[in-house]
Amino acid sequence: MSAPSMTLYYNAASPFVRKVLILLHETGQTGRVGLRPVTVTPVTPDSDLCHNNPSGKIPALCLADDNVIHDSRVILDYLDHQHVGSPLIPRDGSARWRRLTLASLADAVLDAAVLIRYETFLRPEEKRWDQWVDNQSEKISRSLAYFETEAVTELSANFDIASISLACALAYLDFRQPDLGWRSSYPRLANWYYGVSQRPSMLETTPTV
Ligand code: BEZ
Repeated sequence: MSAPSMTLYYNAASPFVRKVLILLHETGQTGRVGLRPVTVTPVTPDSDLCHNNPSGKIPALCLADDNVIHDSRVILDYLDHQHVGSPLIPRDGSARWRRLTLASLADAVLDAAVLIRYETFLRPEEKRWDQWVDNQSEKISRSLAYFETEAVTELSANFDIASISLACALAYLDFRQPDLGWRSSYPRLANWYYGVSQRPSMLETTPTV
């Protein structure tokens, strides 16, 4: 196999990086991307990453021509144009906007869960703001309730951008908020997640500390 032509700024705990890794697995492209591990938080930036992505965020993908693209949605779109199988982001029609909207809602769950992680783990205890955390939690609850009642049947149709994003969000809740107990409130989502979590792309990208 030839050497990877692209480099992904990567952290094994990042759910946003995980979305990219899952798409690479699902589309048979893992061999095209090398991993460059970085440990970043909002208060500990990585200077090399910041040089390539001024926001300092992961994932960022260095292409073969040295251009750098970010964030995860842009990278997923780029990589979905680099394989010959069925697209994981529908190219046009109402399916495109529906699946991207579901993916965006799943990303909102992820954003809220990561902000809670930073607030409860990184921020000094005396500076924490409970009401702010509560509002992030409510954002997660409202979004999961929507997926449970309005979207779980559609999600089952394809393992695509929407399903990958939601699977990463639910897995991240298990990883960082293991006591949340979301399965009892959203049993149809729990059943859906059990099925997708057995996919090789999910098993091979399990987050680690
Ligand atoms: C985490 O450790 O939870 C984390 C790491 C990177 C990005 C987002 C979250």
